[in-house]
Amino acid sequence: MYRTNTCGELRASDAGRTVTLSGWVQRTRKMGGMTFVDLRDRYGITQIVFNNADNAELCDQANKLGREYVVAITGTVAERSNKNPNLPTGDIEIIATSIEILNRSDIPPFTIEDNTDGGDDLRMQYRYLDLRRAVVRRNLELRHKVCFEIRRYLDGLNFLEVETPILTKSTPEGARDFVVPSRMNPGQFYALPQSPQLYKQLLMVGGFDRYFQIAKCFRDEDLRADRQPEFTQIDCEMSFVEQEDVLQLFEGMVKHVFKATKGIEFDYQFPRMTWADAMKYYGSDKPDIRFDMRFVEIKDLTEGHDFAVFDSAAYVGAICAPGCADYSRKQLDQLTDFVKRPQVGAKGLVWIKLEADGSVKSSIGKFYDDASLMAIAERCGAAKGDLILVLCGEPMTTRKQLCELRLEMGNRLGLRPSNVFKPLWVIDFPMFEWDDETQRFYAMHHPFTMPKKEDIPLLHTDTGAVRANAYDMVMNGVELGGGSLRIHRPDLQNEMFELLGFTPERAREKFGFLMDAFRFGAPPHAGLAFGLDRFVSMLAELDSIRDTIAFPKNNSGRDTMNDSPAEIEQEQLDELFLRVELPKH
Ligand code: AMO
Repeated sequence: MYRTNTCGELRASDAGRTVTLSGWVQRTRKMGGMTFVDLRDRYGITQIVFNNADNAELCDQANKLGREYVVAITGTVAERSNKNPNLPTGDIEIIATSIEILNRSDIPPFTIEDNTDGGDDLRMQYRYLDLRRAVVRRNLELRHKVCFEIRRYLDGLNFLEVETPILTKSTPEGARDFVVPSRMNPGQFYALPQSPQLYKQLLMVGGFDRYFQIAKCFRDEDLRADRQPEFTQIDCEMSFVEQEDVLQLFEGMVKHVFKATKGIEFDYQFPRMTWADAMKYYGSDKPDIRFDMRFVEIKDLTEGHDFAVFDSAAYVGAICAPGCADYSRKQLDQLTDFVKRPQVGAKGLVWIKLEADGSVKSSIGKFYDDASLMAIAERCGAAKGDLILVLCGEPMTTRKQLCELRLEMGNRLGLRPSNVFKPLWVIDFPMFEWDDETQRFYAMHHPFTMPKKEDIPLLHTDTGAVRANAYDMVMNGVELGGGSLRIHRPDLQNEMFELLGFTPERAREKFGFLMDAFRFGAPPHAGLAFGLDRFVSMLAELDSIRDTIAFPKNNSGRDTMNDSPAEIEQEQLDELFLRVELPKH
């Protein structure tokens, strides 16, 4: 028998029992005539004791154990004299009577501890060793629990989990597809799904009125801390519902998961903010509302003072940083450098200090007298001791810059703690987004999104102003999920394809199956998808989604453990009638 117990479960009440434990050698320590081995498995760590005086041969064996050796140890549970309160098994130790080496290990390339000495690259290359670390394991345990609770919640509400294909059809819009050549159909390719969007709509046509799936999705896009090329969605769709039904039900799911996994109860309805307000007050469609610091527009107050920078700007916006009037010249320079970084892109930063004694000081004091500066301070709701920071320029660009500055100030002031969770729904997204480069509209969410009924007359007259029945769940500045009411009438769907620049032939080629399905009684339907990786990383209070994934890709989309992607054999290429021609440079 390999084990009678795990390395995490024995307590003082087990004293006197003979047990066998199997696991990995975390470390060995020699002290006087004793050798101590910390034995680790998924469940915890147990201290094993070898006494040279009792059994010199066994003790000698223990002294030769290397880190990460796999061993089975039999012995007697004894209550410890010096207990370790930091370890759940810290009240006991095992007095070993036999030891069996099940496998040896090379010296691991980094220490298997919470605070490891291994850098990111090394840990990714030896991910199976990284997975032995409790901090990584706990994230995957949490992920399991989240999935389990989601299934429990949705099952209780009559949702059916249905799997949809991984080998599917390349569809335009959205991100770039990953494609897979078909041997049986030479010259033709499947695409990996960016999401099960069209399948779930077809399931609604098929009468499955409450669907969900914990679904793998694939997108060939540039990676960031919250993006992986393959990731997982909690994908959901419902028939015969309105937006309100969807928001209520999935707000309930988020609340359920928070309660079940973290014991956190949201005893209020999540606030809702229109996209227009989110942009106006936070410069982002995913505002971090853990702190206030909303934008204040002050263009009208800045006029008539011959300050060309403001006079020539269409938008002048300010934020008020509480208690920061004592910022030094150096700190203000740092902030100026921050907004001038290419990632932010502002030309400069204007500041106004409302000093503790009530006087005002400003980088634009030459142009504005105290009364004018006071008027701005008042508009911003500034109190004595506050610092006002101002950016100006084209409205959308400046708002995005101001958003970066606001988040930076939030960080500096410690207003973004990872253990505080502030959810909200962002609603009423625009239907379309104009792209200057291709000179055409794109669907902001996707082409199957239902425009707001009252905006349908604007589709051809004021396309950019049309709002969609689309919604995102945002938490702490992260888009956790998003969805929409769908178009279910073929005429409106055709009109939408036309507006997005599809000829009827191309729409037919790409989406013919959906259009056909809509001719056979498609029910009104709506849905949304959450990013599971992002949800878990939010709950685990992590900065990156990587550590919520057992085998993630690095920032270049590579798995450095198995060194993929990799070239394939000529034979495989031949079978597929493929030839690889790389650019010369
Ligand atoms: P969307 O494209 O907004 O909607 O995706 C839904 C959610 O999936 C997560 N997500 C990602 N997570 C990790 N890495 C990525 N590369 C990545 N891309 C997206 C985000 C996002 O909110 N079919 C629609 C949903 C619907 O309309 O029902 C869709 O895919 O958390």
